[in-house]
Amino acid sequence: MPGKLVVGNWKMNGDLRHNDALLADLRAGWPVQAMREIAVCVPFPYLWQAQAALAGSVVRWGAQNVSEYARGAHTGEVAAGMVAEFGCKYVIVGHSERRALYGETDAMVAAKASAALEAGMTPIVCVGESWAERESGAGEAVVVHQLDAVVSRIGRRIAETVLAYEPVWAIGTGRSATPEQAQAVHEVLRKRLRKHEAAAGSVPLLYGGSVKAGNAKALFACADIDGGLIGGASLNVDEFLAIAGA
Ligand code: PGA
Repeated sequence: MPGKLVVGNWKMNGDLRHNDALLADLRAGWPVQAMREIAVCVPFPYLWQAQAALAGSVVRWGAQNVSEYARGAHTGEVAAGMVAEFGCKYVIVGHSERRALYGETDAMVAAKASAALEAGMTPIVCVGESWAERESGAGEAVVVHQLDAVVSRIGRRIAETVLAYEPVWAIGTGRSATPEQAQAVHEVLRKRLRKHEAAAGSVPLLYGGSVKAGNAKALFACADIDGGLIGGASLNVDEFLAIAGA
């Protein structure tokens, strides 16, 4: 089955001028009748810009993080309800950079997934093991544990999420997981989702980590890979569209 969804994660990149061009090219470059959905997750200050540029098109947009709290004394945080006001369909939660650099725990990631759902958006829940964890044979247990933490918080609503497997060792390194490596973990995640909730078997499972136009087709051809979460390559429209069309 061709992938269902390809999402760009701009990370902390962009400026008004470049975003204008990128968003316009994206809108113009993705066919209305395309089978696959595409979306871009942009920094908070550019949500209005993404909304203005993409509203009425088939390209969706979203944020890269939200607070686990709904409102209140949390200086510098952004609530899911605020993000939703800009028409976001998606919110990435639990990206490995947030877990590693900003101390996000499994419990926080689960609370953020819950907050996104409460605000009417679809959380893209990221899970992934480090190289050391993989080498020690614990890779699958790590991602299953990360998934279970979210399920323990949101229960059956796991069926309303998107799950992204992003091995930490493959992110921004140019060293993608092989299709076989990725498929093996996706199969484990698919089974786990089904075990938790039958309807969750059809949750889109995205692979992320050094996806490029050159390796996307082989990855997306795998039985349990439904698309991708694309970092660096999403900043180049031609490359991103080539991945999305792979
Ligand atoms: P990458 O990042 O495609 O640049 O490896 C993926 C991600 O962090 O979502």
